[in-house]
Amino acid sequence: MADLKVKYGGVEFKNPIVAAAGPLGRTFEALKRSIEAGCGGVTLKSSNAEVKEEVSPKPGAHVYPRPAHTFLKKYGLANMMINWEGVPVDFTAMEEKRLIEKIKPIASDHGCRIIANVHPDPMHFADMDALRRDIETLQSAKPDLIEFCTCPYHLPHEVTCPETANYDRIKEVQEKVYAVVMEVAEVPVIAKANGPVFYNALRAVRDVGVGCFHVTEGPLFYGTIVDIDEMTPLAPGPAVITYGAHRRPIMNLQCARTRDLGNDFDLMSSGGIWLVNDVIERLMCGAQVVGLHTAVQYHGQELFAKLVKGLSEWLDKKGMALQEVIGKAVPKIVSQEAHDAFMRECDRSVNQIRPSIDPGLCNGCGFCANCIHGAISIDDKKAETNLDKCVRCGVCESICPVDAITLQV
Ligand SMILES: Cc1cc2nc3c(=O)[nH]c(=O)nc-3n(C[C@H](O)[C@H](O)[C@H](O)COP(=O)(O)O)c2cc1C
Repeated sequence: MADLKVKYGGVEFKNPIVAAAGPLGRTFEALKRSIEAGCGGVTLKSSNAEVKEEVSPKPGAHVYPRPAHTFLKKYGLANMMINWEGVPVDFTAMEEKRLIEKIKPIASDHGCRIIANVHPDPMHFADMDALRRDIETLQSAKPDLIEFCTCPYHLPHEVTCPETANYDRIKEVQEKVYAVVMEVAEVPVIAKANGPVFYNALRAVRDVGVGCFHVTEGPLFYGTIVDIDEMTPLAPGPAVITYGAHRRPIMNLQCARTRDLGNDFDLMSSGGIWLVNDVIERLMCGAQVVGLHTAVQYHGQELFAKLVKGLSEWLDKKGMALQEVIGKAVPKIVSQEAHDAFMRECDRSVNQIRPSIDPGLCNGCGFCANCIHGAISIDDKKAETNLDKCVRCGVCESICPVDAITLQV
Protein backbone atom coordinates (compact mmCIF):
# COMPACT_ATOMS: atom_id res chain seq x y z
CA MET A 1 0.00 0.00 0.00
CA ALA A 2 1.46 3.35 -1.08
CA ASP A 3 2.27 5.90 1.60
CA LEU A 4 -0.53 8.45 1.33
CA LYS A 5 0.54 10.72 4.17
CA VAL A 6 0.55 14.39 3.35
CA LYS A 7 1.15 17.59 5.28
CA TYR A 8 -1.32 20.41 5.08
CA GLY A 9 -0.79 23.48 7.24
CA GLY A 10 1.97 21.59 9.00
CA VAL A 11 -0.58 18.98 10.13
CA GLU A 12 -0.06 15.41 8.94
CA PHE A 13 -3.06 13.81 7.23
CA LYS A 14 -2.97 10.02 6.80
CA ASN A 15 -4.25 10.50 3.25
CA PRO A 16 -5.22 13.51 1.13
CA ILE A 17 -8.97 12.78 0.89
CA VAL A 18 -11.18 14.90 3.11
CA ALA A 19 -14.91 15.21 3.76
CA ALA A 20 -15.69 18.83 2.81
CA ALA A 21 -18.01 21.09 4.80
CA GLY A 22 -21.75 20.64 4.47
CA PRO A 23 -24.34 18.13 5.68
CA LEU A 24 -21.49 15.59 5.90
CA GLY A 25 -20.26 17.61 8.87
CA ARG A 26 -23.61 18.37 10.42
CA THR A 27 -24.42 15.20 12.36
CA PHE A 28 -22.48 12.82 14.56
CA GLU A 29 -23.51 9.84 12.44
CA ALA A 30 -22.38 11.43 9.16
CA LEU A 31 -19.01 12.36 10.65
CA LYS A 32 -18.54 8.92 12.18
CA ARG A 33 -19.27 7.16 8.90
CA SER A 34 -16.73 9.28 7.00
CA ILE A 35 -14.09 8.68 9.65
CA GLU A 36 -14.73 4.94 9.72
CA ALA A 37 -14.57 4.81 5.92
CA GLY A 38 -10.98 6.03 6.21
CA CYS A 39 -10.90 9.61 4.97
CA GLY A 40 -7.92 11.72 6.01
CA GLY A 41 -9.98 14.47 7.58
CA VAL A 42 -13.52 15.59 8.24
CA THR A 43 -14.81 19.15 8.04
CA LEU A 44 -17.67 20.38 10.15
CA LYS A 45 -20.65 22.19 8.63
CA SER A 46 -20.10 25.96 8.71
CA SER A 47 -21.46 27.47 11.87
CA ASN A 48 -22.96 30.91 11.81
CA ALA A 49 -23.16 33.84 14.14
CA GLU A 50 -26.09 33.71 16.52
CA VAL A 51 -29.03 35.81 15.43
CA LYS A 52 -29.42 38.98 17.41
CA GLU A 53 -32.91 40.23 18.13
CA GLU A 54 -32.15 43.71 16.79
CA VAL A 55 -31.05 42.39 13.36
CA SER A 56 -34.15 41.05 11.77
CA PRO A 57 -34.29 39.33 9.39
CA LYS A 58 -30.73 38.19 9.67
CA PRO A 59 -29.04 39.21 6.39
CA GLY A 60 -28.06 36.40 4.07
CA ALA A 61 -29.55 33.68 6.26
CA HIS A 62 -32.29 31.22 5.49
CA VAL A 63 -34.06 28.46 7.23
CA TYR A 64 -33.01 24.96 6.20
CA PRO A 65 -35.57 24.07 3.54
CA ARG A 66 -36.61 20.46 3.25
CA PRO A 67 -36.06 18.95 0.78
CA ALA A 68 -32.85 20.94 0.39
CA HIS A 69 -31.00 18.83 -2.17
CA THR A 70 -32.21 17.13 -5.34
CA PHE A 71 -30.10 14.95 -7.59
CA LEU A 72 -31.00 15.56 -11.21
CA LYS A 73 -30.65 12.15 -12.83
CA LYS A 74 -34.31 12.04 -13.75
CA TYR A 75 -33.88 15.46 -15.37
CA GLY A 76 -31.16 14.05 -17.63
CA LEU A 77 -28.20 15.30 -15.62
CA ALA A 78 -26.22 12.49 -14.06
CA ASN A 79 -23.92 13.26 -11.12
CA MET A 80 -25.41 16.68 -10.56
CA MET A 81 -27.47 18.16 -7.75
CA ILE A 82 -29.15 21.41 -6.96
CA ASN A 83 -28.99 22.66 -3.43
CA TRP A 84 -30.92 25.44 -1.79
CA GLU A 85 -29.76 24.73 1.71
CA GLY A 86 -28.65 28.36 2.06
CA VAL A 87 -26.98 29.34 5.28
CA PRO A 88 -28.95 27.67 8.03
CA VAL A 89 -29.22 29.85 11.09
CA ASP A 90 -29.55 27.04 13.58
CA PHE A 91 -25.95 25.77 13.66
CA THR A 92 -23.94 27.97 16.01
CA ALA A 93 -20.30 27.80 17.05
CA MET A 94 -21.40 26.33 20.40
CA GLU A 95 -23.22 23.49 18.63
CA GLU A 96 -20.26 22.89 16.36
CA LYS A 97 -17.97 22.77 19.39
CA ARG A 98 -20.19 20.14 21.06
CA LEU A 99 -20.19 18.05 17.89
CA ILE A 100 -16.39 18.25 17.61
CA GLU A 101 -16.01 17.16 21.23
CA LYS A 102 -18.34 14.23 20.68
CA ILE A 103 -16.66 12.99 17.50
CA LYS A 104 -13.10 13.56 18.68
CA PRO A 105 -12.44 10.16 20.34
CA ILE A 106 -13.55 8.36 17.15
CA ALA A 107 -11.41 10.62 14.97
CA SER A 108 -8.39 10.02 17.25
CA ASP A 109 -8.87 6.25 17.10
CA HIS A 110 -8.76 6.42 13.29
CA GLY A 111 -6.03 9.06 12.96
CA CYS A 112 -8.49 11.32 11.18
CA ARG A 113 -8.08 15.11 11.32
CA ILE A 114 -10.88 17.42 12.38
CA ILE A 115 -11.40 20.71 10.58
CA ALA A 116 -13.76 23.20 12.24
CA ASN A 117 -15.53 25.51 9.81
CA VAL A 118 -16.95 28.99 10.24
CA HIS A 119 -18.90 30.96 7.74
CA PRO A 120 -18.01 34.56 8.55
CA ASP A 121 -21.40 35.99 7.73
CA PRO A 122 -22.90 39.49 7.66
CA MET A 123 -23.52 39.33 11.41
CA HIS A 124 -19.82 38.84 11.94
CA PHE A 125 -19.00 41.76 9.68
CA ALA A 126 -21.30 43.95 11.69
CA ASP A 127 -19.72 42.76 14.92
CA MET A 128 -16.15 41.47 14.68
CA ASP A 129 -16.23 40.64 18.39
CA ALA A 130 -18.87 38.05 17.57
CA LEU A 131 -16.42 36.50 15.11
CA ARG A 132 -13.69 36.51 17.77
CA ARG A 133 -16.00 34.83 20.27
CA ASP A 134 -17.04 32.18 17.76
CA ILE A 135 -13.43 31.37 16.91
CA GLU A 136 -12.61 31.12 20.62
CA THR A 137 -15.56 28.80 21.13
CA LEU A 138 -14.39 26.50 18.33
CA GLN A 139 -10.80 26.76 19.45
CA SER A 140 -11.79 25.43 22.86
CA ALA A 141 -12.94 22.17 21.19
CA LYS A 142 -9.33 21.74 19.92
CA PRO A 143 -9.87 20.97 16.23
CA ASP A 144 -6.75 20.31 14.14
CA LEU A 145 -7.44 23.24 11.81
CA ILE A 146 -10.12 25.91 11.37
CA GLU A 147 -11.52 26.73 7.96
CA PHE A 148 -13.28 29.95 7.02
CA CYS A 149 -15.59 29.95 4.06
CA THR A 150 -15.83 33.44 2.59
CA CYS A 151 -17.19 32.83 -0.88
CA PRO A 152 -18.57 35.95 -2.56
CA TYR A 153 -22.19 35.01 -2.14
CA HIS A 154 -21.59 34.78 1.60
CA LEU A 155 -20.15 38.27 1.84
CA PRO A 156 -22.08 41.49 2.40
CA HIS A 157 -24.66 42.21 -0.25
CA GLU A 158 -22.68 44.64 -2.38
CA VAL A 159 -20.14 41.92 -3.11
CA THR A 160 -22.43 38.93 -3.24
CA CYS A 161 -23.81 39.14 -6.73
CA PRO A 162 -21.59 37.22 -9.18
CA GLU A 163 -22.30 39.54 -12.07
CA THR A 164 -21.30 42.65 -10.14
CA ALA A 165 -18.71 41.24 -7.76
CA ASN A 166 -16.34 43.95 -6.64
CA TYR A 167 -13.04 42.22 -6.15
CA ASP A 168 -11.34 45.23 -4.55
CA ARG A 169 -14.02 45.17 -1.91
CA ILE A 170 -13.69 41.41 -1.58
CA LYS A 171 -9.97 41.81 -1.00
CA GLU A 172 -10.62 44.45 1.63
CA VAL A 173 -13.15 42.23 3.41
CA GLN A 174 -10.87 39.20 3.24
CA GLU A 175 -7.96 41.15 4.72
CA LYS A 176 -10.16 42.48 7.51
CA VAL A 177 -11.63 39.10 8.40
CA TYR A 178 -8.35 37.21 8.35
CA ALA A 179 -6.55 39.84 10.39
CA VAL A 180 -9.07 39.14 13.16
CA VAL A 181 -8.97 35.39 12.60
CA MET A 182 -5.17 35.28 12.87
CA GLU A 183 -5.24 37.19 16.15
CA VAL A 184 -7.44 34.57 17.77
CA ALA A 185 -6.82 31.20 16.09
CA GLU A 186 -4.32 28.87 17.70
CA VAL A 187 -4.38 26.18 15.02
CA PRO A 188 -3.65 26.49 11.29
CA VAL A 189 -6.27 28.55 9.48
CA ILE A 190 -7.71 27.66 6.09
CA ALA A 191 -9.13 30.37 3.84
CA LYS A 192 -11.81 28.82 1.63
CA ALA A 193 -13.11 30.67 -1.41
CA ASN A 194 -13.28 30.45 -5.17
CA GLY A 195 -10.52 30.97 -7.71
CA PRO A 196 -11.38 34.57 -8.67
CA VAL A 197 -11.32 35.58 -4.99
CA PHE A 198 -7.88 34.06 -4.61
CA TYR A 199 -6.48 35.50 -7.85
CA ASN A 200 -7.21 38.89 -6.27
CA ALA A 201 -6.93 38.39 -2.55
CA LEU A 202 -4.64 35.41 -1.88
CA ARG A 203 -1.50 37.51 -1.46
CA ALA A 204 -3.25 39.91 0.92
CA VAL A 205 -4.58 37.01 3.00
CA ARG A 206 -1.18 35.31 2.90
CA ASP A 207 0.40 38.55 4.12
CA VAL A 208 -1.72 38.51 7.27
CA GLY A 209 -0.31 35.05 8.00
CA VAL A 210 -2.79 32.54 6.55
CA GLY A 211 -0.88 29.53 5.21
CA CYS A 212 -3.64 27.23 3.93
CA PHE A 213 -6.12 27.81 1.14
CA HIS A 214 -9.09 25.80 -0.10
CA VAL A 215 -10.19 26.64 -3.61
CA THR A 216 -13.76 25.68 -4.45
CA GLU A 217 -17.20 26.81 -5.47
CA GLY A 218 -17.35 30.09 -7.20
CA PRO A 219 -20.24 32.12 -8.43
CA LEU A 220 -20.10 30.15 -11.66
CA PHE A 221 -22.49 27.45 -10.67
CA TYR A 222 -25.84 29.15 -10.40
CA GLY A 223 -28.56 27.67 -12.51
CA THR A 224 -32.11 26.48 -12.70
CA ILE A 225 -33.97 23.33 -13.69
CA VAL A 226 -37.54 23.45 -14.93
CA ASP A 227 -39.95 20.61 -14.29
CA ILE A 228 -41.63 20.58 -17.70
CA ASP A 229 -44.75 18.77 -16.47
CA GLU A 230 -45.32 21.36 -13.75
CA MET A 231 -43.94 24.16 -15.96
CA THR A 232 -42.13 25.54 -12.94
CA PRO A 233 -38.55 25.49 -11.68
CA LEU A 234 -37.62 22.98 -8.98
CA ALA A 235 -36.79 25.97 -6.79
CA PRO A 236 -38.15 29.43 -7.58
CA GLY A 237 -35.92 32.48 -7.78
CA PRO A 238 -33.21 33.88 -10.02
CA ALA A 239 -30.79 31.05 -9.31
CA VAL A 240 -30.03 28.06 -7.16
CA ILE A 241 -26.60 26.55 -6.76
CA THR A 242 -25.69 23.49 -8.77
CA TYR A 243 -23.19 20.96 -7.49
CA GLY A 244 -21.66 17.95 -9.15
CA ALA A 245 -19.34 16.58 -11.80
CA HIS A 246 -19.80 19.61 -14.08
CA ARG A 247 -17.64 21.56 -11.65
CA ARG A 248 -14.63 19.32 -12.17
CA PRO A 249 -12.88 20.93 -15.17
CA ILE A 250 -13.55 24.46 -13.93
CA MET A 251 -12.23 23.67 -10.49
CA ASN A 252 -9.19 21.90 -11.95
CA LEU A 253 -8.30 25.13 -13.70
CA GLN A 254 -9.04 27.31 -10.67
CA CYS A 255 -6.89 25.01 -8.57
CA ALA A 256 -3.95 25.14 -11.00
CA ARG A 257 -4.21 28.93 -11.31
CA THR A 258 -4.29 29.30 -7.53
CA ARG A 259 -1.31 26.97 -7.17
CA ASP A 260 0.51 29.11 -9.72
CA LEU A 261 0.25 32.11 -7.36
CA GLY A 262 3.09 30.69 -5.31
CA ASN A 263 4.55 27.77 -3.43
CA ASP A 264 4.62 29.41 -0.01
CA PHE A 265 1.16 28.12 0.98
CA ASP A 266 -0.73 24.84 1.17
CA LEU A 267 -3.69 24.13 -1.05
CA MET A 268 -6.83 22.05 -0.78
CA SER A 269 -9.42 21.89 -3.54
CA SER A 270 -12.95 20.57 -3.87
CA GLY A 271 -15.57 20.65 -6.58
CA GLY A 272 -16.76 17.89 -8.91
CA ILE A 273 -14.58 15.08 -7.61
CA TRP A 274 -16.38 11.74 -7.95
CA LEU A 275 -13.84 9.12 -9.01
CA VAL A 276 -10.31 8.12 -8.14
CA ASN A 277 -9.10 9.59 -11.45
CA ASP A 278 -10.64 12.92 -10.41
CA VAL A 279 -8.71 12.79 -7.13
CA ILE A 280 -5.43 12.16 -8.94
CA GLU A 281 -6.18 14.84 -11.50
CA ARG A 282 -6.86 17.48 -8.83
CA LEU A 283 -3.64 16.57 -7.05
CA MET A 284 -1.86 17.05 -10.37
CA CYS A 285 -3.53 20.46 -10.58
CA GLY A 286 -1.69 21.47 -7.43
CA ALA A 287 -3.90 20.45 -4.50
CA GLN A 288 -2.16 18.65 -1.64
CA VAL A 289 -5.52 17.67 -0.20
CA VAL A 290 -8.86 17.18 -1.98
CA GLY A 291 -12.34 17.64 -0.56
CA LEU A 292 -15.51 15.84 -1.52
CA HIS A 293 -19.10 16.46 -0.67
CA THR A 294 -21.73 15.91 -3.37
CA ALA A 295 -20.44 12.54 -4.60
CA VAL A 296 -20.51 11.27 -1.02
CA GLN A 297 -24.09 12.46 -0.60
CA TYR A 298 -24.86 10.33 -3.65
CA HIS A 299 -22.79 7.21 -2.99
CA GLY A 300 -22.48 7.28 0.79
CA GLN A 301 -19.27 7.38 2.81
CA GLU A 302 -18.00 4.03 1.45
CA LEU A 303 -16.81 6.15 -1.46
CA PHE A 304 -13.98 7.39 0.76
CA ALA A 305 -12.71 3.83 1.25
CA LYS A 306 -12.83 3.21 -2.50
CA LEU A 307 -10.97 6.41 -3.31
CA VAL A 308 -8.25 5.85 -0.74
CA LYS A 309 -7.73 2.30 -2.03
CA GLY A 310 -7.85 3.45 -5.66
CA LEU A 311 -5.29 6.19 -5.10
CA SER A 312 -2.95 3.83 -3.34
CA GLU A 313 -3.28 1.20 -6.08
CA TRP A 314 -2.68 3.76 -8.82
CA LEU A 315 0.50 5.01 -7.16
CA ASP A 316 1.73 1.46 -6.65
CA LYS A 317 1.02 0.60 -10.27
CA LYS A 318 2.96 3.66 -11.42
CA GLY A 319 5.71 3.10 -8.85
CA MET A 320 5.33 6.73 -7.80
CA ALA A 321 5.20 8.59 -4.51
CA LEU A 322 2.31 10.94 -3.77
CA GLN A 323 4.63 13.95 -3.76
CA GLU A 324 5.69 13.23 -7.33
CA VAL A 325 2.11 13.69 -8.48
CA ILE A 326 1.15 16.92 -6.71
CA GLY A 327 1.23 19.92 -9.03
CA LYS A 328 2.66 17.92 -11.95
CA ALA A 329 0.20 19.30 -14.52
CA VAL A 330 0.27 22.93 -13.35
CA PRO A 331 3.13 24.25 -15.54
CA LYS A 332 1.36 23.21 -18.74
CA ILE A 333 -2.07 24.37 -17.56
CA VAL A 334 -1.14 27.92 -16.68
CA SER A 335 1.30 28.54 -19.52
CA GLN A 336 0.29 30.49 -22.62
CA GLU A 337 3.56 29.34 -24.27
CA ALA A 338 2.68 25.67 -23.66
CA HIS A 339 -0.75 26.31 -25.15
CA ASP A 340 0.71 28.01 -28.23
CA ALA A 341 3.27 25.22 -28.76
CA PHE A 342 0.49 22.63 -28.47
CA MET A 343 -1.60 24.44 -31.06
CA ARG A 344 1.34 24.70 -33.44
CA GLU A 345 2.18 21.04 -32.99
CA CYS A 346 -1.42 20.02 -33.68
CA ASP A 347 -1.69 22.23 -36.75
CA ARG A 348 -1.56 19.41 -39.30
CA SER A 349 -2.92 19.03 -42.79
CA VAL A 350 -5.62 16.44 -43.49
CA ASN A 351 -3.18 14.24 -45.38
CA GLN A 352 -0.85 13.97 -42.40
CA ILE A 353 -3.49 12.02 -40.48
CA ARG A 354 -4.88 8.62 -41.30
CA PRO A 355 -7.94 7.23 -39.53
CA SER A 356 -7.55 3.56 -38.78
CA ILE A 357 -10.22 1.12 -37.64
CA ASP A 358 -9.15 -2.09 -35.95
CA PRO A 359 -11.48 -4.77 -37.39
CA GLY A 360 -10.67 -7.03 -34.45
CA LEU A 361 -12.06 -4.48 -32.00
CA CYS A 362 -14.90 -2.91 -34.02
CA ASN A 363 -18.24 -4.52 -33.13
CA GLY A 364 -20.23 -2.61 -35.75
CA CYS A 365 -22.30 -0.72 -33.18
CA GLY A 366 -22.63 2.18 -35.60
CA PHE A 367 -22.13 4.95 -33.07
CA CYS A 368 -19.30 6.45 -35.13
CA ALA A 369 -21.58 6.49 -38.17
CA ASN A 370 -23.29 9.53 -36.61
CA CYS A 371 -20.36 11.39 -38.23
CA ILE A 372 -21.75 14.77 -39.30
CA HIS A 373 -19.62 14.71 -42.47
CA GLY A 374 -21.01 11.34 -43.52
CA ALA A 375 -17.48 9.90 -43.52
CA ILE A 376 -18.26 6.62 -41.74
CA SER A 377 -20.59 3.84 -42.76
CA ILE A 378 -21.19 0.36 -41.43
CA ASP A 379 -20.52 -2.37 -43.90
CA ASP A 380 -20.83 -6.02 -43.01
CA LYS A 381 -21.08 -5.04 -39.31
CA LYS A 382 -17.78 -3.15 -39.44
CA ALA A 383 -17.11 0.58 -39.60
CA GLU A 384 -15.52 1.93 -42.76
CA THR A 385 -14.19 5.44 -43.42
CA ASN A 386 -14.58 7.45 -46.57
CA LEU A 387 -11.33 9.41 -46.71
CA ASP A 388 -12.69 11.90 -49.25
CA LYS A 389 -15.34 13.05 -46.78
CA CYS A 390 -13.32 12.67 -43.58
CA VAL A 391 -11.94 15.96 -42.17
CA ARG A 392 -9.85 14.15 -39.47
CA CYS A 393 -11.60 16.00 -36.66
CA GLY A 394 -11.17 13.13 -34.18
CA VAL A 395 -14.77 12.80 -32.99
CA CYS A 396 -15.05 9.14 -34.03
CA GLU A 397 -11.89 8.23 -32.15
CA SER A 398 -13.15 9.84 -28.98
CA ILE A 399 -16.67 8.40 -29.05
CA CYS A 400 -15.96 4.81 -30.10
CA PRO A 401 -17.15 2.72 -27.15
CA VAL A 402 -14.58 -0.03 -27.80
CA ASP A 403 -11.56 2.13 -28.74
CA ALA A 404 -11.42 0.60 -32.22
CA ILE A 405 -10.64 3.89 -34.00
CA THR A 406 -7.36 5.81 -33.94
CA LEU A 407 -6.21 8.82 -35.91
CA GLN A 408 -2.64 7.98 -36.81
CA VAL A 409 -0.17 10.78 -37.46
C1 LIG B 1 -25.35 20.70 0.51
C2 LIG B 1 -24.06 21.40 0.64
C3 LIG B 1 -23.80 22.22 1.72
C4 LIG B 1 -22.57 22.86 1.85
N1 LIG B 1 -22.33 23.63 2.94
C5 LIG B 1 -21.10 24.19 3.10
C6 LIG B 1 -20.79 24.91 4.28
O1 LIG B 1 -21.58 25.02 5.21
N2 LIG B 1 -19.57 25.47 4.38
C7 LIG B 1 -18.63 25.36 3.40
O2 LIG B 1 -17.51 25.86 3.57
N3 LIG B 1 -18.90 24.66 2.26
C8 LIG B 1 -20.10 24.08 2.10
N4 LIG B 1 -20.37 23.35 0.97
C9 LIG B 1 -19.33 23.25 -0.10
C10 LIG B 1 -18.55 21.94 -0.01
O3 LIG B 1 -17.79 21.91 1.17
C11 LIG B 1 -17.62 21.77 -1.21
O4 LIG B 1 -16.63 22.77 -1.19
C12 LIG B 1 -18.39 21.86 -2.54
O5 LIG B 1 -19.60 21.18 -2.44
C13 LIG B 1 -17.60 21.31 -3.73
O6 LIG B 1 -17.33 19.95 -3.61
P1 LIG B 1 -18.25 18.77 -4.24
O7 LIG B 1 -18.35 19.02 -5.71
O8 LIG B 1 -17.52 17.52 -3.89
O9 LIG B 1 -19.58 18.86 -3.58
C14 LIG B 1 -21.58 22.69 0.85
C15 LIG B 1 -21.86 21.85 -0.24
C16 LIG B 1 -23.05 21.20 -0.34
C17 LIG B 1 -23.29 20.30 -1.52
